[in-house]
Amino acid sequence: MTIHIGAEPEQIAQTVLLPGDPYRAKWAAETFLSDVECINQVRGMLGFTGTWNGHRVTIQGSGMGMPSLSIYVNELITSYDAQTLIRIGSCGGMQDKVKVRDVVIAQAASSISTPSRGIFRELNFAPCADYGLLRAAADAATSRGTPTHVGNIYSADVFYDERPDLNEQMVRHGILGVEMEAAELYNLAARHGRKALAVLTVSDHLLTHESLPSEDREKTFGDMVEIALEAAFA
Ligand code: HPA
Repeated sequence: MTIHIGAEPEQIAQTVLLPGDPYRAKWAAETFLSDVECINQVRGMLGFTGTWNGHRVTIQGSGMGMPSLSIYVNELITSYDAQTLIRIGSCGGMQDKVKVRDVVIAQAASSISTPSRGIFRELNFAPCADYGLLRAAADAATSRGTPTHVGNIYSADVFYDERPDLNEQMVRHGILGVEMEAAELYNLAARHGRKALAVLTVSDHLLTHESLPSEDREKTFGDMVEIALEAAFA
């Protein structure tokens, strides 16, 4: 057990999916896994382990923002030996071609700062996805026919961003979408020699101000979970 995860070491699989929302972890585990066991309830940050096509998988909530994700990912890697960590979450679309409901696979994640800034200092480290996972997820999305974009995203520190000028530069530089966790997931995976990827569903759009109606969310989020699972065991 760790400070934030109340599971025994053998209760956590080497492959971990990380939604921000603990209730989405519960929904994804109950929908896609069999033999599901709840393995964490500390602070309500639910985690579940089960099997998918005979493979053991843990789905653990990460919370919102990089400081929260950093707590869970550090503990999953250093105390539970997680090897493959895939964020499943939502993002705000930042290009016209990126539509609400589309999937975005984050090849790289830009940021203003991350919890790793104290280590990198003047270095602009480029946090990037594991290429094998990235390719497998892109292949899975293509064979499912899910509209999908692969490229650079922005991991923000704030949801309520008061810098519209920055968004303009993001759009201009081809950033596909904004979320709040992937850059630090990629930093931690690089530091510890693990594989990481972020597969995201576009839940709202910064240019069109559309957002996904709640009744549509499950089906769209389901595509993302299945793409992540197929990539993990490709
Ligand atoms: N900003 C930051 N994070 C997000 C957004 C957003 O617009 N949408 C989903 N996650």
